Parts: sequence; structure tokens; C-alpha cells
Amino acid sequence: MTDIFEAIQKTAKRIKKAIDVKDIGYSQQANASGETQLQLDIKCDMIIEEEFSQVASIHTIASEEKEKEMLLHEDGKYFIAYDPLDGSSLVDVNLSVGSIFGIYENAFGAKNMVASCYVVFGPRVEMVFAHNKTKLHLLQGEDFEFVKEIHLDEKGKLNAPGGTQKNWTPYHKEMIDGLFGEGYRLRYSGGMVPDLHQILLKGGGLFSYPATSDLPKGKLRKLFEVFPFAFIYATAGGEAIDGRVDLMELGYEHIHDTSPCFFGSKYEINRVKEVYARNT
Ligand code: AHG
Repeated sequence: MTDIFEAIQKTAKRIKKAIDVKDIGYSQQANASGETQLQLDIKCDMIIEEEFSQVASIHTIASEEKEKEMLLHEDGKYFIAYDPLDGSSLVDVNLSVGSIFGIYENAFGAKNMVASCYVVFGPRVEMVFAHNKTKLHLLQGEDFEFVKEIHLDEKGKLNAPGGTQKNWTPYHKEMIDGLFGEGYRLRYSGGMVPDLHQILLKGGGLFSYPATSDLPKGKLRKLFEVFPFAFIYATAGGEAIDGRVDLMELGYEHIHDTSPCFFGSKYEINRVKEVYARNT
């Protein structure tokens, strides 16, 4: 696992340099989810592919920017699904973005996940790696330095509600409004990585991307986004569900499958469970 941890650190330093350029231009290509790919997305995908190709323990990779999975080393045991630059449409307005890595053993699928990691590119570059514990590291010059372990509180103060509000169900809207009524504060940038990072580091809260009338299966992808963060939240003492079921209990059919998702500390996730059990 150390070799993977080190390879991710190398990708982070190279991606940081790739972001810091004047022209991040749009390419003509669309990714497997039909979104226009930035040249930057493609570049970050190539950086990760190059670095992971050097790691013999990695069997197969799957990227949000690639249609199919790619075999790297027949004798490796790890399967890594990654989103090279989540929220890349926020780079031109200089908001934070991130890379996400789900590390699976022997095959993809939540039940096979053994570790998970993300990197936040904001004013500082930070990396959170969850294995047995969830640990924060900060890029200092050329090296990542350990900062602290991350633990979620039982209850937080932040509310990050995703999805187009006019397409929410009435009970979802009522639940979100109810949290604001209790004093929760809105924190939503449109980048999953910084939004979930903020909730983790500020002790807790709720991030939601529900099923909506336009996206009945949600927007966020299971293998690249949902499972990795579900693992991180569980390891940090929080919880992650699809409304009713623990996200780590879900299967997948296609590598680009999506799921509604809720990540938070225990208090907020219990609220989601109550509301969704009553209404779905
Ligand atoms: P993209 O990589 O296409 O910019 O999408 C970002 C993702 C995720 O990071 C974020 O939480 C979500 O899309 C935001 O979607 P909405 O704008 O629909 O809330």
C-alpha cells in the first residue's frame, strides 16, 4: 500500500503544476458520462495513468475520464478507481478542486475497498488517506507531512445540499429546510472534494446529493466518488447512506454507475434515515 500512497503523492505534485497554467482550454471530447472534457481533465488522467503504471501492485485502473477499465499489471492485487480532477469546471473561477482514489482488492466493488484517498487543491494542497484511520497530510515544499487524524463529531453545523432544488422531492426539501431551521449553515461550492473536506475538518454536518426528478439515480459516481468518500466518512466515525442503505452495501453494474448519496455525522444521517424511511 505504501507504493500506492507514494504514487498518489507524485500525481498530486504534478497535477498541482498542471492546474497552475493560464490556458486550461476545452477539448472537443466528451467523457463516459457525456460531459465535455477539459484538456486539464485529460492531462490529469494521463499523469495518474503514468504514475500508476510504475506501481507493480496495481492490477487495473478505472478512471472517470476513461470509458473502460485498463489492465496495468497481471500480477498486481489492487484495483484503483479514480476521478483525476473532480469539479474541474471550477478551476477557471479559482475555487478548490480535487482528485479522488478508491483502492479495491482483487476486484472493484464497495465490499472490496481496502483504502481510500483524496487530494484537495485549494490555497494549500492537502491529502486525506483512510486505511484503518483517516489521516490528513499537507504538502510542504516537495513533501507531504502528516498533520493529524480526522474524527467526526456526533453532530455538526454545516449543510451542503447538492442537486437542482426545483427537482428535489418535497420531503427532501423539508428535511434540508429543517436543518437550516435548526441553525445549520450553508456551505456548498459545487466541488464534492472541498465540500466534503470542509465538513470532515469542521467536525460534521451533512452533504447530500439526492435522487432528483432529472437525475433519479443521482449524479455522483459510485466507484470514483461515492464509495471512496463513504469509506473515508465511515473510517472517520461518520456514516454514508443512499437515503436508506449504507453506501458500502451497494453493488454496481457498470463502472460509471451513479447513486444518490448522503455523507455526514451520526446525528444528520439519522435524520436522513428517518425522513427517507417515512417517504420512500
Ligand atoms: P464536475 O466534475 O462535472 O464539475 O462535477 C462536480 C460534481 C461534484 O464535485 C459536485 O459535488 C457536484 O458535481 C455538483 O453538482 P451540482 O452543481 O449539480 O450541485
